[in-house]
Order: sequence, then C-alpha cells, then structure tokens
Amino acid sequence: MKGVILAGGTGSRLYPLTRVTNKHLLPIYDRPMVFHPIQTLVNAGITDILLVTGGQNAGDFLRLLGNGKDFGLKHINYTYQEGEGGIADALRLSEHFADGQPVCVVLGDNIIENNVVAARAAFEKQGCVGGHIILKEVPDPQRFGVPVFEDGRIVRIEEKPQDPKSSYAVIGIYMYDATVFDYIRRLKPSGRGELEITDVNNFYLEDGRLSYSLLDGWWTDAGTFESLLRANALAAETGANKL
Ligand code: DAU
Repeated sequence: MKGVILAGGTGSRLYPLTRVTNKHLLPIYDRPMVFHPIQTLVNAGITDILLVTGGQNAGDFLRLLGNGKDFGLKHINYTYQEGEGGIADALRLSEHFADGQPVCVVLGDNIIENNVVAARAAFEKQGCVGGHIILKEVPDPQRFGVPVFEDGRIVRIEEKPQDPKSSYAVIGIYMYDATVFDYIRRLKPSGRGELEITDVNNFYLEDGRLSYSLLDGWWTDAGTFESLLRANALAAETGANKL
C-alpha cells in the first residue's frame, strides 16, 4: 500500500500563525506537525509516500524532509495543489502516484496517540478492495464528518452536522482502492466550495463498499487554536505515534 499525506490548504483558521508558513510546519510539542502523519504511515508499514502541499511555502517541505531518509522512507514524492479546492481535490493529484494500488490517505493535521496497524490489517483482510474509515468517539462531533448508524451499520456520513446523529467523528486517515479516483471525478463542490472527502466516503457506502474500525488511544486534529493547543499538550504529556 502507498501513502498520501494531504498538507495543502491555507490554514486560514490559524491566522496569523499561518501568514508566513504552512500550517503543517507549525510545531506540535517537539517536532513539526507534518512529522506526525509521516510517522503514522511508517508505523503502519508504508514507506512509499506522496506529500501534497500548496501555498507559498511549499519549498520548505523539501528543505525539512529532503529525500525522507531520516524517516526510513523508501521514496518521498511531492506535488502541488493549486488553490484549496478541498481534501478530495488534493487527493485527486495522487492518481498517477497510486498507479492502481490501494492508498492510505492521512490529513496533515491529524495526530494520533497510537497507530493504525489494526485498521490496515482489517482493510487487507477485505483484500484492499473498497474503502475503510476509522472512527473515534468525540465530545464535539459537529466539527467533523459524522457517521449515521442504523441497526449497527453506517448508512451515511454527514459533514459537520449541526445536529450530529452519533458521537463519532470520521478521523482523517482513510484507506481506499483505486476506484477512489473514479468517485472523485463524480464529485460536485459542496456549499463551502470544496470537493469533500465525506462525499467520496458516501459513494463507497452507497455501493456497499465501505468498512470501518474504531481507533484506540487519543486522536486530534490541529487546525484551530483550541485543537492545536490540545495536540501540543497531548503530544507532550503522553507522546504520539506509539507502536
Ligand atoms: O480531521 C478530520 C476531519 O477532516 C473529518 O472529520 C472531516 O470529515 C473532513 O472534512 C476534514 O474536516 P476539516 O474541515 O477540519 O478539514 P480541513 O479543511 O481543516 O483540512 C484538513 C487537512 O486536509 C488540512 O490540514 C490539509 C488538507 N487539505 C485541506 C484542504 C481544504 C488539503 O490538502 N487541501 C485542501 O484544499
């Protein structure tokens, strides 16, 4: 399986911290944010990685990460998202890199205490066919993609619902087969003008091809002042990306 890290966007929710740098280069305790999604992939046994970035500071990733040898990466590849058309728009750029193989996609601001080894095993058990998402129970589901359950099965996912139908968030680590790129081609921009990863997951659900697992240990994003502070505190207090 190959890995894709999405580190585009403008980080506007973190202005002025992101006025002269990319959100994913900000510190999470003792390391730059982007080290976390890289470690998440490496810990899951994935060392062939594409980093999608954008904005005015894209060159800084090359200076920071170089050829990826410090992480033991087999390859690190880079590409550039023009504008910020959404998570699925950024993922679209990885089609050539994926080359028909399954991908594990990690949002650049998602940080976990442990690892996704069990989720990868579950996806492999289904032959790396279809999609696999990871859920975590949270106190503030309205900030995230939220699964709606009927009879214990997910029937749809709602993006940032005002009235969440469950207390779970879909975390920003996804596993997909190559049909993800066909689904992305069918997407229309959402109300916020973005190609939404939640719409991709709903296409998989409609076709009965999406499975899920629950994450153990803590998970947080780091895209707002509150969550950035929380990510720093959690990483400092308990450590992140444990195997
Ligand atoms: O953190 C998990 C959540 O991430 C999910 O529960 C939601 O379903 C999903 O939509 C997403 O929500 P956010 O609105 O919080 O995503 P955000 O716009 O903050 O983008 C998250 C990362 O995705 C960001 O750190 C970089 C990457 N990204 C985002 C956009 C909009 C890109 O690479 N390009 C983009 O155009």
